[in-house]
Amino acid sequence: MTRIGIIVGSIAEASINRQVANVLPGLATDEDVEFTFLEFKDLPFYDYALDADYPQVARDWKQAIADVDGVIIVTPEYSRSIPGVLKNALDWAARPWGQGSFAGKPVAIMGASIGSTATAAAQQHLRAILGHYDAPTMGQPETFFHYRADAFGADGTLQDEAQASILANFVNAAVAHVKQFARVSA
Ligand SMILES: Cc1cc2nc3c(=O)[nH]c(=O)nc-3n(C[C@H](O)[C@H](O)[C@H](O)COP(=O)(O)O)c2cc1C
Repeated sequence: MTRIGIIVGSIAEASINRQVANVLPGLATDEDVEFTFLEFKDLPFYDYALDADYPQVARDWKQAIADVDGVIIVTPEYSRSIPGVLKNALDWAARPWGQGSFAGKPVAIMGASIGSTATAAAQQHLRAILGHYDAPTMGQPETFFHYRADAFGADGTLQDEAQASILANFVNAAVAHVKQFARVSA
């Protein structure tokens, strides 16, 4: 069984990226995969003074990442970059020094936006961060998802076939990427 964590880069209750992320597990064709959402909204601001004694919530966050074989990050673009809350969560994961949670951890990224840039700028910034972490990051398919509320049903299902096919391509490539690069698989 391959374990994949899904991180949503937004803590907004009505997050469109969470709405999109929610449909990904159902589009995976490989049945030998377990998806878990990894949540970071309770993390305080990172402060290196706490490196010697991480708060429990930060230990739990790092453990949650350690417990999966790979990660999918679905993030919005805020101010032409990733949201500050996601950067904060990544900073917690990167430390203490020498104990980075993403070293060697395969990651696939995508994002959804109603805007014309469709998260392209944010994803480039995220790739730079993940490269620094030595996380093997999926190159293709790049997925800049143009969100349309009318493509979703009231129950959260994605009813637009073309859009579902974009997400299916992404999640199935992400599964293959994690399986190829996961260092340890239970
Ligand atoms: C502070 C802020 C900055 C934003 N900057 C961008 C941006 O640079 N590019 C973009 O495509 N959308 C931008 N948006 C619009 C977001 O794409 C939109 O709010 C979207 O719903 C965010 O995703 P979420 O609902 O998953 O949080 C911004 C929104 C906020 C709140």
